Amino acid sequence: MKKGKKIYEGKAKIIYATSDKNLVIQYFKDDATAFNNQKKSTIEGKGVLNNRISEHILSNLSQIGIKNHLIKRINMREQLVKLVEIIPIEFVVRNIATGSLTKRLGIEDGTVLENPLVEYCLKNDKLGDPIISREHILTFNWLNVVQLDWIDNNLKRLNDFLQGMFRGVGIKLVDFKVEFGLTNESGKTEIILADEISPDTCRLWDTITDKKLDKDRFRKDLGDLIPAYSDVAKRLGILHEQSNVSAVNITKLSSVKKKRK
Ligand code: TMP
Ligand code: ASP
Repeated sequence: MKKGKKIYEGKAKIIYATSDKNLVIQYFKDDATAFNNQKKSTIEGKGVLNNRISEHILSNLSQIGIKNHLIKRINMREQLVKLVEIIPIEFVVRNIATGSLTKRLGIEDGTVLENPLVEYCLKNDKLGDPIISREHILTFNWLNVVQLDWIDNNLKRLNDFLQGMFRGVGIKLVDFKVEFGLTNESGKTEIILADEISPDTCRLWDTITDKKLDKDRFRKDLGDLIPAYSDVAKRLGILHEQSNVSAVNITKLSSVKKKRK
């Protein structure tokens, strides 16, 4: 597949055209941003780990029938994915209260929610990704009621699957954000999961110690982001247990998958 020109650059990824008009290449950068781009840094190796972790999760989701844009990982930083028109809404699912929810509503950090809480945010950096209601989505025709109900159902399935997958490797899925896109194959419009699912877009706490294994290590200046993301990759069986993780080593990771016992 021939890599064409850059068609979009976001905060953590770049999208390139390919010789097939329906497929694009998604490149994972090492850039980290938080608080709507107010805090920025480059963390060597982050893109490589997110590429691998997101590939692992999205290919597992395909196997349970949750359609997504991933075709295949091409190399350490790139994936071949379906071209989609991203729906301008960030879908957040929360199992434990933390982050903006606690700040916005004064809920105590760490409160376990009785049921998963879904929140919608408008994907608009200039407006700071404001939280919106179901009624906003329907009023402004960002989605119709059938599409929104379909996504809500899939968010529940997604949360159940991801919670189970992480629980099995000693990690609590605190919350996550996903994006969906519209594809148009042979005249039929379909909604599929797009973007990435990685420690950049999930909050992941160790089950026993509550140690943060996600981008909060950057947001909160906790340090050791690469060891934390590597720990997630190792537990998921993507990285060898004995891998001595450094930025240099990450770029040399073997593609051998090892099943965690
Ligand atoms: P929040 O508590 O900051 O609203 O974040 C909720 C979840 O969404 C958390 O897992 C981090 C993720 N997230 C993103 O992936 N991108 C974003 O731009 C924001 C604000 C949150
Ligand atoms: N990705 C978002 C930003 O840059 C926010 C976040 O993940 O906290 O600004």
